[in-house]
Amino acid sequence: MKALVLAAGSGTRLRPVTHTGAKQLVPVANKPVLFYALEAIAEAGITDVALVVAPGSDDIKEAVGDGSAFGIDVTYICQDVPLGLAHAVLISREFLGDEDFLMYLGDNFVAGGVAGFAEEFRRSRPSARILLTRVPDASAFGVAELDAEGRVRSLEEKPEVPRSDLAVMGVYLFSPSIHEAIREIKPSARGELEITHAIQWLIEEDRDVRAALHTGYWRDTGNVADMLEVNRHVLDRAVGAIEGEVDSESRLTGAVRIAPGARVIRSHIEGPAVIGSGTVVTDSRIAPHTSIGEDCTITASGIGGSILLRGATVHGVPAVTASLIGRHTTVTSAPAEVPAHQLVLGDHTRVTLAR
Ligand code: TTP
Repeated sequence: MKALVLAAGSGTRLRPVTHTGAKQLVPVANKPVLFYALEAIAEAGITDVALVVAPGSDDIKEAVGDGSAFGIDVTYICQDVPLGLAHAVLISREFLGDEDFLMYLGDNFVAGGVAGFAEEFRRSRPSARILLTRVPDASAFGVAELDAEGRVRSLEEKPEVPRSDLAVMGVYLFSPSIHEAIREIKPSARGELEITHAIQWLIEEDRDVRAALHTGYWRDTGNVADMLEVNRHVLDRAVGAIEGEVDSESRLTGAVRIAPGARVIRSHIEGPAVIGSGTVVTDSRIAPHTSIGEDCTITASGIGGSILLRGATVHGVPAVTASLIGRHTTVTSAPAEVPAHQLVLGDHTRVTLAR
């Protein structure tokens, strides 16, 4: 069995971070969300992995390399335009050959991995098997309807009135029959080759399309709120480790991970939280569920429930919350004589200011 990991796409919901980098590299507890997927694939015993990337994804190639750090062998496939999940399969035909494969959306976070799911597919070998999870309101998802034997009877993309509470997650297993289906489907109204249409084609052709129910935690990290939530989930399970320097005037409570080369000076860090190497936190309070990346500078500030990417600076800002702060971004307080906000914001940035 091979694996196809999709990491192209436009990432519009995570702009402006995605203007300068892949969303799959946004760190969750200081580890790129894509790495969790690659670890899950390795754990499922799959070593032959292709990563579908957008043109110029040097950041992904640099971070993942040949995959040996994960115990896998990575091939890169460039998708010039994000024309849909089924299009990504179409352009990967040569790599996939006539083998079964696991398709994993690179921005998905699946607690507990996918090894059991892959093993079950190897045993039973249906045409396709999709991973489903129960959600309170399925109208924002692909929704599956099952028959009494657990076969998938229909799939609907973001229905106004969902026929079930079973949302389609971003992990699929396919036999080579999916290639036949993809050849038959046409682009959707949004101009994409939809994988749900290809699976629906298999269902209509009476092929064996099965579902597996994932009962653990799952999120698609495509927007900021979900990214922060996954960060919270991972940090809640993290163990503390103090490898950097913490001065005697600082206080750490809860599970706090301080990477080698980080420094904490006259500050209070309330875990769960992680501080990346090269970061300096001075006269500040870091509240729970905060991940601060490498080489950041936090001074006289308070930050909670947030993700800061590499090289960010926060200075003299007492209450930052639920924020995603991009690489080398600076957030500072205005001098006392300027009672106004001064902003230099990139395209598609969103700022919420406290009144
Ligand atoms: P989406 O989150 O559905 O799409 P997107 O990345 O374009 O983001 P947005 O909706 O915010 O604009 O994509 C799910 C995953 O699949 C993600 O990891 C990107 C990847 N993908 C591809 O590799 N090729 C594609 O053609 C599409 C649509 C997505």
